[in-house]
Amino acid sequence: MRRTGAAKQGTTRLPAKSGPMIARAGGPLNGACAAPGDKSISHRALIFAALAAGESRISGLLEGDDVLRTAAAMRAFGASVERDGEDWRVCGGEWRAPSQRLYFGNSGTGARLVMGAAAGAGVSAAFDGDKSLRARPMGRVLEPLRMMGLSAETNDSRLPVKIDAGERLKAVSCKLAKPSAQVKSAILLAALGADGVTKVHEPALCRDHTERMLGAFGVSLAFEPDEDAGRFISIAGGQSLKPCDVVVPGDPSSAAFLAAAAAITPGSDVTIANVLVNPLRTGFYQTLRDMGADIVFENQREASGEPIANIRVRHSVLHGVDVPAARAPSMIDEYPVLAVVAAFASGETRMNGLEELRVKESDRVASTENGLVANGVDVESGRDWIRVAGDGSPPRGGASVKVEHDHRIAMSFLVMGLASKDPVEIDDSAMIATSFPDFDGVMGAIGADIAAK
Ligand code: S3P
Repeated sequence: MRRTGAAKQGTTRLPAKSGPMIARAGGPLNGACAAPGDKSISHRALIFAALAAGESRISGLLEGDDVLRTAAAMRAFGASVERDGEDWRVCGGEWRAPSQRLYFGNSGTGARLVMGAAAGAGVSAAFDGDKSLRARPMGRVLEPLRMMGLSAETNDSRLPVKIDAGERLKAVSCKLAKPSAQVKSAILLAALGADGVTKVHEPALCRDHTERMLGAFGVSLAFEPDEDAGRFISIAGGQSLKPCDVVVPGDPSSAAFLAAAAAITPGSDVTIANVLVNPLRTGFYQTLRDMGADIVFENQREASGEPIANIRVRHSVLHGVDVPAARAPSMIDEYPVLAVVAAFASGETRMNGLEELRVKESDRVASTENGLVANGVDVESGRDWIRVAGDGSPPRGGASVKVEHDHRIAMSFLVMGLASKDPVEIDDSAMIATSFPDFDGVMGAIGADIAAK
């Protein structure tokens, strides 16, 4: 197996790339590589460290645009957040109201989690973002926070948003209307500053990094199963966070592009080091296995309270499957690349329960379908589903895809071009830097032909 020097996370910030990019089929992909640090855990590590009085260190932080916006927001609340060698050093404590509007770029996670944290810290703040983020719903976070007593002004439940620290928040009992970890996290963070015990009912489990990491920062939470597949989370207000060192594992949602590329490119054998394999994040890998992919989690272990593993993926013959709606929360960001993989499989793949894909960085049901159609794939979609049919041979490719300001659409279609008959182009690569700044470099190191056009 070819070894590359890329199996390291959290390295130097790269100059931003933009403009069209093209991916062409070449030889097999081989070797060891690493995905960048997990985006969800990176945001949380910065926010929690900024709330904790004292010094916390973070290693493996994702240095993508989204996370760097959260770092800037933490500075605006008064924390010191600096790169220190390979790590990041955060000195947190009491938050003060920022003097300027906070700008979250493309990042829904940053904006929504920080709304909850600022509400809990009792500080006023104004929030804004780019065109894509301004189009995304914020009411889902603000409604429960308003129930706790927060006052907020919005632009028709969208950004820009201004929250006003006034009355002390009060604890509430609420049920999540959607399986959203961002909403759940915002409520739990606000609850830290509320009088009483807040109880959140999540009817379907979604990523639990906030609960795990709050525990590591010294906050007590209580869990109780409900009668079905969900649970109740209780958290008492008035608890303060204690500094904690965090090791950020590789992002399974970013690793999905490497895994997908290996699964569809004949002769490939790729190992992705140190990937988060929290069971609430691995639905994509389960689905690939169901399709016949050869995927092994090697050397499973723990880092900072999260399970991690090296993921080895070898090319194999794939067949279509029905992906159950119940699996959606554990692979919500991976559907665009799964749809690309499905185009290489024989038979139909039907993905269900995709309502939330409509309100991501783009309407991902539409942007995925449009990209597939342009590249000659048989695809159909409805309000909350996509069906992709393949015959087991590579799809035609050959088109330029509009990425609609969406990093995961951009990377998904570059992956497609690595094994389709004709190359696939994307109209703009700029958004890739939000979550996977060195995507073309890491891909190139295992043998992929991806280049600026
Ligand atoms: C995230 C939760 C998910 C996911 C997003 C990251 C998080 O969003 O799509 O990329 O870090 O909590 P929702 O909470 O809207 O499902």
